[in-house]
Amino acid sequence: MKNIDSKSHVRGESVYLDDIPVVHGTLFACVFDSPIAHGKLRSMDTSEAENSEGVFKVITAKDLIGENQIGGIVPDEPLLADGEVHFAGQPIAIAVAASEEFARKAAKKIKAEIEPLEVVTDPRVAAANGDLIVPPKKFVMGDTAAAFAGCKYVFEGRTEQNGQEHLYIETQGAYAVPTEQGGLKLYSSTQGPTAVQRAVCSVTSLAMHEVEVDVQRLGGGFGGKEDQANAWAAICAVASQLTKRPVKYALHRMEDMRMTGKRHPYSSDFKIGLDKNLKIVAYEASFYQNAGASCDLSPPVLERTLFHCTNSYFIPNVTATAYCCRTNLPPNTAFRGFGGPQGMFVIESAIAHAAEKLGVTAAEIQQKNLIDDGDEFPYGQLAESDAITSWSQADAKYDFAHLQKDADDFNAGSKYFKKGVAMMPVCFGISFTKTPMNQARSLVHVYTDGSVAVSTGAVEMGQGVNTKMAQVAAKVFGLGIGKVRVHTTNTLRIANTSPTAASAAADLNGKATQIACETIRDRLFEVALPLVEAETAEAVTLNDGFVYRNDEKTSLTWQNLVMEAHLQRVSLSEHSHYATPGIGFDWTTAKGHPFAYHVYGTAIVGVTVDCLRGRYEVDYVKCCHDFGSSMNTAVDNGQIEGGIVQGLGWVTMEEVVYDTAGKLRSNALSTYKVPDIYSIPKEIAILPLETARENLAIFNSKAVGEPPLMYGIGAYFAIRKAVRAFKDCSPEFDLPFTPEKVLMNLY
Ligand code: MTE
Ligand code: MOS
Repeated sequence: MKNIDSKSHVRGESVYLDDIPVVHGTLFACVFDSPIAHGKLRSMDTSEAENSEGVFKVITAKDLIGENQIGGIVPDEPLLADGEVHFAGQPIAIAVAASEEFARKAAKKIKAEIEPLEVVTDPRVAAANGDLIVPPKKFVMGDTAAAFAGCKYVFEGRTEQNGQEHLYIETQGAYAVPTEQGGLKLYSSTQGPTAVQRAVCSVTSLAMHEVEVDVQRLGGGFGGKEDQANAWAAICAVASQLTKRPVKYALHRMEDMRMTGKRHPYSSDFKIGLDKNLKIVAYEASFYQNAGASCDLSPPVLERTLFHCTNSYFIPNVTATAYCCRTNLPPNTAFRGFGGPQGMFVIESAIAHAAEKLGVTAAEIQQKNLIDDGDEFPYGQLAESDAITSWSQADAKYDFAHLQKDADDFNAGSKYFKKGVAMMPVCFGISFTKTPMNQARSLVHVYTDGSVAVSTGAVEMGQGVNTKMAQVAAKVFGLGIGKVRVHTTNTLRIANTSPTAASAAADLNGKATQIACETIRDRLFEVALPLVEAETAEAVTLNDGFVYRNDEKTSLTWQNLVMEAHLQRVSLSEHSHYATPGIGFDWTTAKGHPFAYHVYGTAIVGVTVDCLRGRYEVDYVKCCHDFGSSMNTAVDNGQIEGGIVQGLGWVTMEEVVYDTAGKLRSNALSTYKVPDIYSIPKEIAILPLETARENLAIFNSKAVGEPPLMYGIGAYFAIRKAVRAFKDCSPEFDLPFTPEKVLMNLY
């Protein structure tokens, strides 16, 4: 089934934040942000801006009625800089004017005298200075020190990984409209309506029941709007509260790139020990996470790096330590994979490094160490593993040996073009690692005309969650999808939402929707029994808009049944709650069962490198992917294709560049290259893993949002192999492997 948004997307009729008709009297905000990365705010002059055409107000930290604080995990993030600035792009003041144009002009006229302080952009420097946002986190299993002593081979190395700009097509933005008695209604392009509500309440001193947040859909979030949508909503809220007018702010692309955080860059050390049979016996890793200037979501991102530090492998002795390092960059944040990709790249680098030194293929080491059923992850959960099955099903279908031989034959006959092939297994845990976040609610109304309205805490951002919610209701009620409408995500209808993140939105909100629909359905069955002369509810089913008795169609239609229930004063509405059972994690021991289940997969990535120019093309990504049992193959295959391309972009061409002064140089699409239609793989093949295993996913259809991104990591290792086929060299494990870096390694 197609994504229910596809038609309105293609026609340009889908409504995003900037399409919401503005109310008469709406004002527009624009931020004046810090031109330097660290300094003391000595003085400010806003007078010229205040007298600028169309300006209603210029707002600084001292004007706030509430607290100047939007930090969700650690209160270290002022909405507007006060006293000091901590990154270039940090909001300092807000110009509010009658038009966008006037607001932008006014913001440019704000002057600040900032006395520069030392700028730190390197996480290792921050760690050496003791500037950690939270204490280091550690996973330990077995005894690495003892294990290394008994290893036949031990290798050490270092990896560097750069950030990644989210580049959601719709930039950040919000629109605040005053409501009665001093309340506010916020339209926001956010993955976390409740997070926005909390931030708005903090800066305005309003209670949560006075603030309504409404989200129609996002033009992409990718994690970048899980926490970082808060500031813009808070800015509009403050401006609206102080001017008593509706206030809107939709960021320009360059503002968005400059002022918002990205995927976390990491610098990491690894040490890997193997026995004579190439079994990995011990693994140590230290991760230095570049968190940026404030906490944001850095600690949970860092935790997921630890959770996925052994990827799809079983390693009996593991010590992994992670440091959350404060630097003078915009606060880095969630990005598809949420720290998982960073952890996986390091173990894959360690394996590639060992393989190169030992003169074997990485695939040989990878395959020998895949995690099996009952093996323990470093965090204590026992695997219900399909790592080996996904590997063998991918091999059976795509024939690794053959693909490798093709590449070798090609290389033997080609001087300047070289091919490389790499295997990329992936194992990704599904659930928020913070257990309390694994809950969701759904509100379902059946109207007397038989149409159904569903509201959940899930936010549609292109991933098709609304289509899946509609499918759930349609399936339970035996209706066509057209009878179901999924409505905006709204904090008055659904309270205390978890953000749409961790790939868990369809599971959590889908299960809540299923419960709500089944509750209504069971009530309807009671009404139906005498009408269709059935004895028990078991005999009754709903299908094609009719009531069936013992699998035979009756003359009772869905619509008549609904109306009859209403006349009998039976409730046609339900608000349901779902909390994932059986999960938990204890940080005092760093052990537990944090994930409802894991998603497994194995990809083979093939590339061709032009060794004269350093350019490369991705020939194919062929994967065997664990969908469980997909409830929507069109949507899920789209997630796989998009995830792979986004992952490829991260490891190959997307290069976030800050200079040593902490200023973003790759600050526009002219200087930041993302994959386009020409850089996507020539072939993406998807083989669904065949498994009969039960899981906790909605209708057994496993979460699919993030895991495929990590198949893209294989492109780095494939390019590396092609480079080494041209020249015996050891490129640094340094992402992204841009054509420029490839060339520097070749010559
Ligand atoms: N797909 C599209 N088209 N747009 C997005 O913003 N975000 C990704 C993924 N797929 C995203 C996407 C991220 S980071 C997550 S966590 C999941 O979708 C969230 O949605 P889900 O929980 O419904 O999978
Ligand atoms: Mo996704 S990074 O969990 O929003």
